[in-house]
Amino acid sequence: MASIEMKNIVKQYGDGFPAVNDVSLDIADGEFMILVGPSGCGKSTLLRMIVGLEDITSGDMVIGGKKVNDLAPRDRNLSMVFQNYALYPHMTVFENIAFPLRLAKMPDDEVRRRVTEASDVLELKDHLERKPANLSGGQRQRVAMGRAIVRQAEAFLFDEPLSNLDAKLRGQMRTEISRLQRRLGITTVYVTHDQTEAMTLGDRVCVLRKGKIQQVASPRELYEQPVNLFVAGFIGSPPMNFLPATPEGNRLKTPFGDIELDEKRAAAVAGHDLLLVGIRPEYFEDASLVDEAKRPVGSIFRARVDVTEWLGDSQFAYIPYEAPESIQKQLRDLSRELDAEELRTQAIVSIDATSRIREGREAEFWLDSRKVHVFDPESGENLTRDAEAGAELTRMATQDREEQLEQVRESSVGAA
Ligand SMILES: Nc1ncnc2c1ncn2[C@@H]1O[C@H](COP(=O)(O)OP(=O)(O)OP(=O)(O)O)[C@@H](O)[C@H]1O
Ligand SMILES: [Mg+2]
Repeated sequence: MASIEMKNIVKQYGDGFPAVNDVSLDIADGEFMILVGPSGCGKSTLLRMIVGLEDITSGDMVIGGKKVNDLAPRDRNLSMVFQNYALYPHMTVFENIAFPLRLAKMPDDEVRRRVTEASDVLELKDHLERKPANLSGGQRQRVAMGRAIVRQAEAFLFDEPLSNLDAKLRGQMRTEISRLQRRLGITTVYVTHDQTEAMTLGDRVCVLRKGKIQQVASPRELYEQPVNLFVAGFIGSPPMNFLPATPEGNRLKTPFGDIELDEKRAAAVAGHDLLLVGIRPEYFEDASLVDEAKRPVGSIFRARVDVTEWLGDSQFAYIPYEAPESIQKQLRDLSRELDAEELRTQAIVSIDATSRIREGREAEFWLDSRKVHVFDPESGENLTRDAEAGAELTRMATQDREEQLEQVRESSVGAA
C-alpha cells in the first residue's frame, strides 16, 4: 500500500489542449479519494496517468515515495478495475482471481494460499469453482477486486465502475466497495461523475473542472463550505438554490425578503453590487412548524407555492422568483456546465412532511440565515466561506479514517 502524490501534473493531448491543467494532489496511504466532475473535466486522464497508461506532459507522479513518471504500468503495481471488470468467461472464479499470479509464474501452493485468503475476505469461498456467467453483478465485481488483492497491489484505481448498473444494484455495490476498502485499508482512487457516489464513498473528494482542481475536501466540507459556485452547484441533490441578492448594510435584499447577515459576512459582501445567495433546500422550513426559540435566528417571508411534491419523509415546494436577465443567463450557463437540470428561477424548498402548505397558495416560510452562502456572480467565489470551519470538518473525517485504518492494521497483524 502506498501514498500517491501528484505535483503540478499537466496533460496536453496532441492538439495542445490541456486535459489536466496543473493538478497537485496528495493521497494518503490507505485513503479513499474520489475524482469527480462533469464529463470531459479530465478525471479519466488523471487516473490513467497514475496507472501509467497515459504519458505525463509535465509534473511529477510519486507513488510510495518513488517518482514513477517513466515507469511502465506493470512496474507500478497498481490495480485498475474497469467498468466491465474484464473477467475471463471460460475460467473459474478461482482461476480468474489467480490470473496475475499465474502470469508471474508463482508456485502453486502460494497461489492457493493467496486466492483462499482473498476469497475469504471477499466472501467468495463457496463460488470458487463457478464461471463468471453464473455470478451476480456484485460477485463479479468482487472477483475483479480479488484479482487486485492477490497481487498485493499498492492501490486500487476505479474508473466509473458502477455506471452500467441499474440504480438498485449501484446502491448495493457502492456499499460493498466501501466496506471492502475499509476492511483492506488499500489506497483507492475512484472516478465518478455521480455526486451521490462521491459523497458516500470518499474520505475526501477532489472536484475537477476543465482540468483544474476546484476543491479537495471531505464530503461535509464540500457540502457546507464550498469554495465557489461550481462546487456549490455540483454537490447536493436537489441542488442549492441561487437567488439574486443585493447587500445593504448587514442585510441582503433577495426576492424572498431581507436576510440578516452577521458582521463577518456583512463585511465580506460589502462593496458588491449584485450577488448570488446560495440556499440549500433544507435551510427552509414551513414557518408554522418552527420553534419559537429558533424563529429569531432565521428570516421569515411569504411566498406563493407553485408545486408541492410529497415524498413521505419530507416534501418539496417550488417557489418561483424574479431575477434579472444577467443572473438568469449565469444560472443557465452553470447548469449547462454541471450537466444538471436547468437551474430555473424557482427555489426548491424542503419542508417537513406534515406541513399543510398547499399548491397555488401563499404560505409563510422560515429560512435559516446562518447557513446561507453569498457568491460573486462574476468570479463564482464564495465570499462568505468559513475556511477554518471547513478545514475542521475535513480534519475530523481524516482522523476518523486514520483510526479505522489503525484498527484494520492491528487486526490483520493479530491474524497473521
Ligand atoms: N486521446 C485523446 N486525444 C485528445 N484529446 C483527448 C483524448 N482523450 C481525452 N481527450 C480530451 O481530454 C479531456 C478530458 O478527457 P477525460 O476522458 O479525462 O474526461 P473525463 O472527465 O473522464 O470525462 P467523462 O466523465 O466523460 O469520462 C476531454 O476534453 C477529452 O476530449
Ligand atoms: Mg472518463
